Amino acid sequence: MRHLPLRGQCYTSVVARIAYLECTKCGAHLSAEQPQTVCPKDGGVLYVRYDLAELKPSFTAASLFGRTPTMWRYAEVMPEAEPVSLGEGFTPMLPSREHPNVYIKDEGLNPTGSFKARGMSAAVTMAKAYGLKKLAAPSAGNAGGALAAYAAAAGIEAHIFMPKDVPPANRVECESFGAKVTLVDGLIGDCARRVAEQKEAEGWFDVSTLKEPFRIEGKKTMGYEVAEQLGWRVPHGIIYPTGGGVGLIGMWKAFAEMQELGWIGAERPQMVAVQSSGCAPIAKAWDEGKPTADLWANAETIAAGLRVPKAYGDYLILEILHKSGGVALSVTDDEIMDALRHWARVEGIFAAPEGAAALAAYRKLRASGFFGADDSVVLFNTGSGLKYLDVIEAAKRGPRPAARQIGGIIGPH
Ligand SMILES: Cc1ncc(COP(=O)(O)O)c(C=O)c1O
Ligand SMILES: [Zn+2]
Repeated sequence: MRHLPLRGQCYTSVVARIAYLECTKCGAHLSAEQPQTVCPKDGGVLYVRYDLAELKPSFTAASLFGRTPTMWRYAEVMPEAEPVSLGEGFTPMLPSREHPNVYIKDEGLNPTGSFKARGMSAAVTMAKAYGLKKLAAPSAGNAGGALAAYAAAAGIEAHIFMPKDVPPANRVECESFGAKVTLVDGLIGDCARRVAEQKEAEGWFDVSTLKEPFRIEGKKTMGYEVAEQLGWRVPHGIIYPTGGGVGLIGMWKAFAEMQELGWIGAERPQMVAVQSSGCAPIAKAWDEGKPTADLWANAETIAAGLRVPKAYGDYLILEILHKSGGVALSVTDDEIMDALRHWARVEGIFAAPEGAAALAAYRKLRASGFFGADDSVVLFNTGSGLKYLDVIEAAKRGPRPAARQIGGIIGPH
């Protein structure tokens, strides 16, 4: 039975199913009874751990039958709190009309038009359960809109810092949801700095990407859905437009959990991280065989969500690419725009530039022979093109819109 904590009630009741939070660097265990950010010892990203062995007998794939068609259908492996839900998740897995064995997971159909809804639904759910009243995040993209929407639904304040040249759709939706938007004369790193400087005095809880453990839990549900929608099989490959890489990290966690639950075997998809050639720190680190990525200078791309010069979880992304036999690659903005138009005309899907990068990557990987025609590959369209009308119009007219540059260690999340 789900329930909210009463004022003053011990947090334990809302996190009963969570065994502990585990540091992905040193393995330290932390309690989920109070809000956590990153490992206090080494800044490692924290994973939420459940007692899967205890869940296994009753939490079967068959038990999902008839459940709500949202990401909360996987309730046993989600935080036990009353979900702050707007119907996120369980998005369509569309067979491509062009490429046999290719599927398009259309995340543009989520509330607020992107997969960021999943992470924010989970993070705001926990924020509400913990009794937090004010959340803050830097954002140059869809995460701000998602945070604003879920905060509105939860009756929590949202403080969002965006560069002053943020895409209009993102700013307008945040303001419409009643969020306090601060436009910063600077780059996303400057926005992150403003949040860091002000959060203590203002009493804000920082829900920056990977610095809050539950956004991964929301995004991992994409992995559960891929397996469920393909009849409890994992595809040969998954192509994921990678900025901070939270979805890729989350899906990999989901596959491990599903194996422990006995829902899938040891097989894993080859995980592919696609970036824009104007900001490709992960692809560069991959090519150089490094375990972490260097900060990318002068990040510049029409795919706003991929403008992450230094992903906080770079070590996790690169490890997953290696373990899965995957690859990281970059595609140009022109290739992205071409793929965007092509998808719209051939598939009837109006993708975000970030999502269209997945098709551009698939084309390259087919041409190079990395994937064959028989390989089943899931392409993630992470957002709706409707939020990028200015970018798409400007690209149609010829010269690209003035590039927005960002710096700093926190991306547009
Ligand atoms: C549409 C879209 N796709 C992809 C990304 C990158 O997401 P991740 O941080 O999970 O790599 C973003 C991030 O803002 C986004 O808005
Ligand atoms: Zn640690």
